[in-house]
Amino acid sequence: MCGIVGYTGKREAYPIIIKGLRRLEYRGYDSAGVALVNEDGLKVYKKKGKVADLEDTLVGVNLHSHTGIGHTRWATHGEPSDRNAHPHTSQNGEIAMIHNGIIENYAQLKNELLKKGYTFKSDTDTEVLLNFIENIKTNNNSTLEEAVRIALRRIVGAYCILLVDKHDPETIIAARKGSPLVIGIGKGEHFLASDASPIIEYTKEVVYVNDYEMAIIRPDELILKNLGNEKQTPFITKLDMELAAIEKGGYDHFMLKEIFEQPTTIQDCLRGRLDAEAGTIIMSGIEKYIGQIMDAPRIIIVACGTSWHAGLVAEYIIEETCRIPVEVEYASEFRYRNPVVNKGDVIIAISQSGETADTLVAIEKAKEQGAIIVGIVNAVGSSIARVSHTGAYTHAGPEIGVASTKAFTAQLAVLTMVALKVGYAKGTLEKDRYLQLCKDLAEIPAKAAEVLKLDNQIKTLAEKYKDAPDFLYLGRGYNFPVALEGALKLKEISYIHAEGYPAAEMKHGPIALVTEVLPVVFVATKDNYHAKVVSNMQEIKARKGKVISIITEGDTVSPTLSDDVIILPPTDEILAPMLSAIPLQLLAYHIGVAKGYDVDKPRNLAKSVTVE
Ligand code: G6P
Repeated sequence: MCGIVGYTGKREAYPIIIKGLRRLEYRGYDSAGVALVNEDGLKVYKKKGKVADLEDTLVGVNLHSHTGIGHTRWATHGEPSDRNAHPHTSQNGEIAMIHNGIIENYAQLKNELLKKGYTFKSDTDTEVLLNFIENIKTNNNSTLEEAVRIALRRIVGAYCILLVDKHDPETIIAARKGSPLVIGIGKGEHFLASDASPIIEYTKEVVYVNDYEMAIIRPDELILKNLGNEKQTPFITKLDMELAAIEKGGYDHFMLKEIFEQPTTIQDCLRGRLDAEAGTIIMSGIEKYIGQIMDAPRIIIVACGTSWHAGLVAEYIIEETCRIPVEVEYASEFRYRNPVVNKGDVIIAISQSGETADTLVAIEKAKEQGAIIVGIVNAVGSSIARVSHTGAYTHAGPEIGVASTKAFTAQLAVLTMVALKVGYAKGTLEKDRYLQLCKDLAEIPAKAAEVLKLDNQIKTLAEKYKDAPDFLYLGRGYNFPVALEGALKLKEISYIHAEGYPAAEMKHGPIALVTEVLPVVFVATKDNYHAKVVSNMQEIKARKGKVISIITEGDTVSPTLSDDVIILPPTDEILAPMLSAIPLQLLAYHIGVAKGYDVDKPRNLAKSVTVE
C-alpha cells in the first residue's frame, strides 16, 4: 500500500510525479504529497485526501524543479490527515522522505530520538526513520547515502523509501525491503515508482530493485548497492506493457473496463498454452516441476482476498483432477501459525499484484522449510514471482480498479490449466474428459462475451436491489467460492453488508436472517449439486426471501422459485466459476455506481496490501 514516485532529469518534475501518483492511487488515497528540490531549496506540499485534492491546492503555485518525490498514502501509523501525509521532513528541514511499508521497531527508535531532544510533527513511523537517518548523518558528518545505509541496518520491518536532500538537488536516494521499487531509465533522466505504470510512457527500460538494495540516482547516473556498500550491476528489463492498458479507454471506471476485458484477458491467458484441438497445454514453468507436483504429498494454496477465493476453486479442481490433497490457507494465518510444511509439499501462491506482504512472507517461510513454490501471479517481475521456484503468469494486464475482477478469472484459467495438465500427466484425469475439458476451456472467452451482454439486465437488477441493507450469496461445490467472491465484491464496492455461504450450510445460521427484504443470490449453474441447490432455494422462498439466481440455459425449475434470474451459457461445472463470477462483478459494480460511490477507489481499501 502507498504509492511512491520520483523523478530526476531535465523535465519539470511536478507534472510527471502527479501523473504517476494518479496511476498509483489504487495503492491508497488517504493523502498525497510531493517534495521538490532545486537550487533554491526544498519545498514540500501535502494534503489529506486524493491526489486531485492536492492538485487543487497547488494551482498557481510555482512548482519549478527538476527533481522530486511524491506519495499517495494508505494510512497505517496515524490517521489520514495533512500532518501525517508524506513526504515528511527531517527535524532540521533539510531532508524529505516518502515511505511505503511499516517500520516495526519505530517505538524503540523514537524513544532514543526523544531522549536526544527530537520532537515529532506526525504520528508516523516514517518520520521516526527519517529523523533516525538525520541524526546519524549529523553525528557522523556523513553523506545522506551513508546515513541511510547505516540506519537501515537497524530497521525491522518493510520499506521502500525515497529521500531528497536540500543540499544535493539532483540526487534521489532510494532503498527497499519488502515493498516494491522500479526504476525507469531514460536519456539523462530517471523515474522511480512502486510499479511500472507511472514510467511506461517515458521509457520501457526498467530495473526492479531487490530487497536490501539501495539506489543513488541522478539524471545521468544510477548506482545500485547492497547495504554492505558493494556495487551491484543493475539488471535492465524491457517492459511489455502498453500505455492503453492503464487508461480507461472510454469506460466510466477502470472496474467496468476490466470486467469487460475478461473475454480478452482469459483468451490472453490461454493463448500459446492451450491447444484444444491437439489436446496440449504448454506451461514451461509447470513442466519444469511436473514430477514434483504430481508426486506432491500435499498442495497448499496461500493467498489473500479475491486470490484466496480463486484458490478455493482450485482446491476443488485439483482434488478432482489430480487426486492430490489440497489445503487453502489465508497467507496471514499461515505465516504466523507454525504450520507443518514438509519437504516435497508444493505451495501455490496466488497473487494479482505479486506484492501482498502476507503472501510473500508466507512463501518465503515455506521455501525455507523445503517446499516448492509455484507462483500464479499477474504482475510480471513482482516480488512473489521472483521468490517462487517456478510458476505461471496470468497475463491479465494491469488491473487498476481496487476490486479485483479480471485477475480472478485469469487466475482460474491458469489454475485450471495447471490442474488439467498435472491430472492428465498423472493419469488421474482420463483422456476423454481431459480432451473435452480442453475444448470447453477454449470456449470460455466467447462464453464470457455472451455473459457480458447481460450487463443492461444486471444494471436494472442493481436499481431494484440497491437499497437492501444486507445480501446473502449462496452456492455449492465449485460455485461456493464464487458466492464468497460475489459477497466480497458487493461489500467492497457498495458498502452493503453481504455474506457468502455454502448453500446447505446456511441452514445452520444465516437462514435466521431471511425476511422478505433480504436478497439471496444463488449461484446455481448446472452441476452435480443442482438439485440440492434448488432445494435450498425452496427453503429461502418458503421464508419469503427474495431469490436472485444465476442459472444455466435450459434450467426450467429455478426460474419458478426465483424473483429474478440471470441465465448463463452452459459449460462444464469445473469451468463455470469463470462465467458465474462475471454477473456478480457487474451487480456489485452497478449497485456501487447507483449509490454514487467511487467504485475504483472504495473507502479504506487498497489494491496492493504491502503491509501485514
Ligand atoms: C487487496 C485487494 C484485493 C486482492 C487482495 C490480494 O485486498 O483489494 O482485490 O484480492 O488484496 O491481493 P493480491 O495482489 O495478492 O492478489
